[in-house]
Amino acid sequence: MLIASLKPRTMGGTTNTGLLTYALHRAGYPVAAYDADESLQLAAWQRKAPDFPCEVVEADHPAFAETVYPGMDHGRVNVVDTGHAENHPDIVDSVLEVADLVILTISPTEPDYNRLTKPERGAPLAKMIKRSGALRDSGRPPVTVALLNRCNASSSKPTEYAELLRNGGTDGALPKWDVLSTRIPLHVGIANAVGSPCDRRDRKAPYDALVTELRDRGLLPGPETFR
Ligand SMILES: Nc1ncnc2c1ncn2[C@@H]1O[C@H](COP(=O)(O)OP(=O)(O)OP(=O)(O)O)[C@@H](O)[C@H]1O
Ligand SMILES: [Mg+2]
Repeated sequence: MLIASLKPRTMGGTTNTGLLTYALHRAGYPVAAYDADESLQLAAWQRKAPDFPCEVVEADHPAFAETVYPGMDHGRVNVVDTGHAENHPDIVDSVLEVADLVILTISPTEPDYNRLTKPERGAPLAKMIKRSGALRDSGRPPVTVALLNRCNASSSKPTEYAELLRNGGTDGALPKWDVLSTRIPLHVGIANAVGSPCDRRDRKAPYDALVTELRDRGLLPGPETFR
């Protein structure tokens, strides 16, 4: 299985990718990680953190589907971190050709919502996902869920943006997203996770909830399915 972690621009994507991989590992899944972002921060995190759960393969390749994907062990949960979709659409397009599940990281703020829905340049991510169907064996785009992160628990913004995403904006004219009920909190311990040890309570609980929701919704088979 391949889970792709996507975002239009800096949103907390690498943080989510690494801590999701760690949560999957603790839940009993065999995991592997791929860094398809040219900044290679996930790979650097793995080198620095002694408890990072697996090797990270550098895979920032525009021919990801042809050169990286075939060499993966599909008896594991493979997780790939991608870079800015608006700046590296070639890599993201190639990842979308082969991903089984896409997790979009999005922060509940106006600039980040605007970059998702109306990017200054390039195609909106929803369009990239939709058009990927043409290149996939199934002919359909990958199942995609949106994960709100950097959520302030005392703010109404996460709920406001979740509704905008679910409903396709205020008038329903924009693409509609399947928004997870799990939210990653705005939290200093998570903010400093990249490059640091994973084994901290505040770096575990939200991602355990994410794995549970993915399982409960049938988006992730149980660990016994994998070798
Ligand atoms: N849950 C969180 N709470 C607070 N800050 C966070 C959280 N998650 C990430 N951040 C902060 O957001 C910034 C971006 O995080 P990260 O590097 O994971 O994002 P990215 O989307 O991978 O960015 P890049 O564009 O560099 O690939 C960092 O400064 C990080 O500290
Ligand atoms: Mg990153």
